[in-house]
Amino acid sequence: MTDLLRLQDIKVYFRSRAGLFKTVEVKAVDGVSLSLGRGETLALVGESGCGKTTLARTSLRLIRPTSGRIIFDGADITHLPESELKWFRRKAQAIFQDPYSSIDPFMTVKQILEEPLILHKIGSREERMEMIARALEDVKLTPVEEFMGKYPHMLSGGQRQRVVIARALILRPEYIAADEPVSMIDASSRAEILYLMKELQERYGVGFLYITHDIATARHFSDRIAVMYLGKIVEMAEPRELIENPLHPYTQALIEAVPEPDPNNRFRERKVIPGEPPSPINPPPGCKFHPRCPYVMDRCRTEEPQLQEIKKGHLVACHLY
Ligand SMILES: Nc1ncnc2c1ncn2[C@@H]1O[C@H](COP(=O)(O)OP(=O)(O)OP(=O)(O)O)[C@@H](O)[C@H]1O
Ligand SMILES: [Mg+2]
Repeated sequence: MTDLLRLQDIKVYFRSRAGLFKTVEVKAVDGVSLSLGRGETLALVGESGCGKTTLARTSLRLIRPTSGRIIFDGADITHLPESELKWFRRKAQAIFQDPYSSIDPFMTVKQILEEPLILHKIGSREERMEMIARALEDVKLTPVEEFMGKYPHMLSGGQRQRVVIARALILRPEYIAADEPVSMIDASSRAEILYLMKELQERYGVGFLYITHDIATARHFSDRIAVMYLGKIVEMAEPRELIENPLHPYTQALIEAVPEPDPNNRFRERKVIPGEPPSPINPPPGCKFHPRCPYVMDRCRTEEPQLQEIKKGHLVACHLY
């Protein structure tokens, strides 16, 4: 069976202004290859600025990569013009971090959910109403009649994100990229929304890219975890294997930085990973993690390690192995 989504050696470089006459190159994504199976959930974790959002946007063809290829359902969509992407726009959906800015404040919930159906010319009026009601039931915004008439400002952050989830699912997509879908939601409803997404993802067999800072939630909500550092995937494995047996020093540091659950300490601070936070402008030569790596060797400063399978299903890019 073909993969749902295949990214082949994707590079996304931006030109960014650095002073009046100067621009610098930002290597936001710098050679990522990965594939997502149908109905699979892949978590992408890594620190701020490592390129997660850029990679997700590229996978949705909201950005054209500088180089590399995007293969969806066996079709190369890397350079297709927007006019030939309509089928893809229906099959691939996004859930972004901020439910406030991703829905129109002047539209009712019903209008928000009906918009994609009208855009893709799906169903009669009555059929669309049934689909909207079903979508609201799916995300547990009931009674549905009550929610249909509401405007976004009448909803809580969590309810708004449920509307965003319903809108993403209403077209029965094959692929959803969810970029930190709960990070801006009240901490008390995060788990509930993650469980809801997981349930719907399984029910409808959606391939899911779940982006998060948080390796602890990635463990519960994914079939595989990919760890990203400065535009590269440095390690990839099934969650249990990755967390119990992390091979890359960066993954080890990420796991150590997860605070221990402590019911008495409400202000658990995330520990920080030692060393300078990385910059995608002038990244270091060799292994990009070497300036922060406790195990750095000579060759790490010059030679970039390639991602390779060390054990079945466990890939790592590190000269230690
Ligand atoms: N349009 C752009 N122009 C210039 N630089 C950009 C652009 N978009 C992203 N970048 C830079 O590319 C790098 C990767 O950004 P990206 O948003 O993909 O990271 P991220 O992993 O999603 O971070 P976060 O966890 O903070 O959301 C950052 O250094 C960012 O400043
Ligand atoms: Mg981001």
